[in-house]
Amino acid sequence: MRRGGIALAALLCAAAAASCVHIGDEGAAASQVPEFVLTYAENQTDDYPTTQGAYRFAELVKERTHGRIHINVQSGAVLGDEKSVIEQLQFGGLDFARVSLSPLCEFVPKLNVLQLPYLYRDADHMWKVLDGEIGEEFLKALDGSNLVALSWYDAGARNFYTAGKQIQTLEDMDGQKIRVQESGMMIDLIEALGGIPVPMAYAEVYSALQTGVIDGAENNWPSYESMLHYEVALYYTTSEHNRVPEMQLISQSTWNSLSAADRDILRECARESAEFERSLWKQREKRSKAKVLAAGNQLYEMPAEERARFKAAVLPIYETYCSEYMDLIERITNTE
Ligand code: GCU
Repeated sequence: MRRGGIALAALLCAAAAASCVHIGDEGAAASQVPEFVLTYAENQTDDYPTTQGAYRFAELVKERTHGRIHINVQSGAVLGDEKSVIEQLQFGGLDFARVSLSPLCEFVPKLNVLQLPYLYRDADHMWKVLDGEIGEEFLKALDGSNLVALSWYDAGARNFYTAGKQIQTLEDMDGQKIRVQESGMMIDLIEALGGIPVPMAYAEVYSALQTGVIDGAENNWPSYESMLHYEVALYYTTSEHNRVPEMQLISQSTWNSLSAADRDILRECARESAEFERSLWKQREKRSKAKVLAAGNQLYEMPAEERARFKAAVLPIYETYCSEYMDLIERITNTE
């Protein structure tokens, strides 16, 4: 959106967290007033690694464009849940977001490959894949979706947690109402394990656990802790059933409005912010786990044999969602 007056642009931003307000080059050169004021959506709390990564991204961009591009980070899902944020990005109502791959897979199904259950051996394996050629290929998989992928963020491994009874074996999943992200694959995963999937937005999980609408959910340590789910679901089980990487995205229409030089700056800053996020992630995983255990929550470390039973139960999902990509899956598995 191109605007003649700075005051009007500022007003628009403040009022509607409006997107891609382009103020005009003359003003920027003369007074350090931003030429672009862009909005970035994040659904985590302010001190969370991904939000800190977003702030770092905004700072780097401001520095390297000498204040021409200003990015307004809005945390805590104030701009909507991830599904609606993705839609807003697609039509240009929002400029940037960091989202989990799970809801994004509904828009770009090929990405399902990267959230397959028990795909990666560990975090290092996943990062070798994402930092290499395969990762680049998947960033490009968004071409044609009205979204442009800028970088990968870390979100660790996902584990089950429950309010009533601890999940220890596959049989314990039977009939448990488990919240999942709004993702077809995640719905099928819970069904394959014998549970009842309940798709819902992240912000609603705490009260759903508290009121018994669901028996449990699944997420990484930092989310379990930062969203206070640990207060209402005392039992945490390290099933590590999948790793769902995250992406920093920019709306295609915002991307198109920027010069090639500015695009390069955005890519470079996004990648640097991702390195920062990844280092914060490792520390936060440990801190969150320690905090939850100090609060008296019960941890069950699932043995490898039981994880193998979970894996066997969910294997049909590979065929359902990724039959066209078996060669790619093999390349991922063979990545050392
Ligand atoms: C993680 C992820 C969020 C996502 C959430 C969820 O916390 O970082 O982006 O919304 O999982 O389970 O919905």
